[in-house]
Amino acid sequence: MRFAGQVIFVTGGAGFIGSALIRRLLSDTDAFVVNIDKLTYAACLDSIPQAMGHARYRFSQTDICNGAALRKLFETFRPHSVMNLAAESHVDRSIDGPSDFIQTNILGTFTLLQEALRYWRGLDRQSQNAFRFHHVSTDEVFGSLGEAGLFDEGTAYAPNSPYAASKASSDHLVRAWHATYGLPTLITNCSNNYGPYQFPEKLIPHMIIKALGHEPLPVYGDGQNVRDWLYVEDHAAALTLVLEAGRIGETYNIGGRNERTNLDVVRTICDLLDHKAPSAKGSHHRLISFVRDRPGHDRRYAIDASKLEAELGWRATETFETGLARTVAWYLENRTWWQAILERGYKVQRIGLSEASA
Ligand code: NAD
Ligand code: TYD
Repeated sequence: MRFAGQVIFVTGGAGFIGSALIRRLLSDTDAFVVNIDKLTYAACLDSIPQAMGHARYRFSQTDICNGAALRKLFETFRPHSVMNLAAESHVDRSIDGPSDFIQTNILGTFTLLQEALRYWRGLDRQSQNAFRFHHVSTDEVFGSLGEAGLFDEGTAYAPNSPYAASKASSDHLVRAWHATYGLPTLITNCSNNYGPYQFPEKLIPHMIIKALGHEPLPVYGDGQNVRDWLYVEDHAAALTLVLEAGRIGETYNIGGRNERTNLDVVRTICDLLDHKAPSAKGSHHRLISFVRDRPGHDRRYAIDASKLEAELGWRATETFETGLARTVAWYLENRTWWQAILERGYKVQRIGLSEASA
């Protein structure tokens, strides 16, 4: 069985992608998972339903900026790998308040690298060779594409938002810790994820929840910005593959070959809701409204995932149509999950117009 007898640290495991990764590690492998998460607004431990009482799961409420607490975790659990997903992840929030992004994404990654390096240096040679530090990042580090072309692993970094700049910094730190200290690192840069358990601030759940409340669906600018959508379960499968078989020091791009304009995405959500949850008030399409654009809004992202496909044999299993249909069905069937987030005080409202101060 995969990862038998191995301890894997997953930071940010209560978030959207981290929880999908942990669900997969628990269901498809024999890994012992330690979920290290600060539990910010974006966290939800209910997103790992099988975790409670699971023999191969532990949770620690820890900030990755807290070196002393991390050191204790390394000493207690003696991990074989670290997968770093802890981050502030929402571009609009980074526009209004970049400080937390600098703290967690840059200083947190630095602190985690330092503690991982300290621990790694104390291992025997064989354990050192087997150890991996896998950093999970975004295609937003590459900036914006024009009409044509794709991001590959050699694309120059050109981040435009505070979020993207903080992730770019963290990628550079990871690269340097490999080149300078020999820490066995892996970096993955993926495109926009979607699927079950995504926090309602992101485009797809945001639109589903607004539409179900018969509220306007705020499309930024002209709606022609393009994102390359990746189903979160496909991403989790790719992450376990890279951890297992990725080449040390390498970067892998992960994307689903699903480029869509934002307007297309919103229209498809409306079609699905008209079919699965018709409203007496009329078609959901009538709710689409164009609002002021996001400052610094990247026009197009698109990933060339051929390195991952050729080297590790990864393939996305969901097309955008099947994945989006599953996602809309999940939000319809799991209202208690997202209603609990609204009840905790999260307001599904516009942010990120750069009018608030940091
Ligand atoms: P998320 O916002 O849903 O979850 C982030 C998790 O990290 C939360 O559980 C939060 O509590 C935790 N966290 C935040 N600060 C922390 C800290 N200082 N210490 C410990 N835990 C902390 O994010 P996500 O969408 O699951 O993204 C996971 C990773 O994937 C991030 O690194 C993000 O940059 C990257 N990524 C996300 C996407 C996407 O579409 N969601 C795309 C590309 C890359
Ligand atoms: P988002 O989910 O915030 O991801 P990212 O900014 O990391 O790509 O947004 C995806 C796209 O959808 C992005 O081009 C901004 C746009 N968008 C809207 O048009 N309206 C919205 O309400 C939101 C949240 C996003």
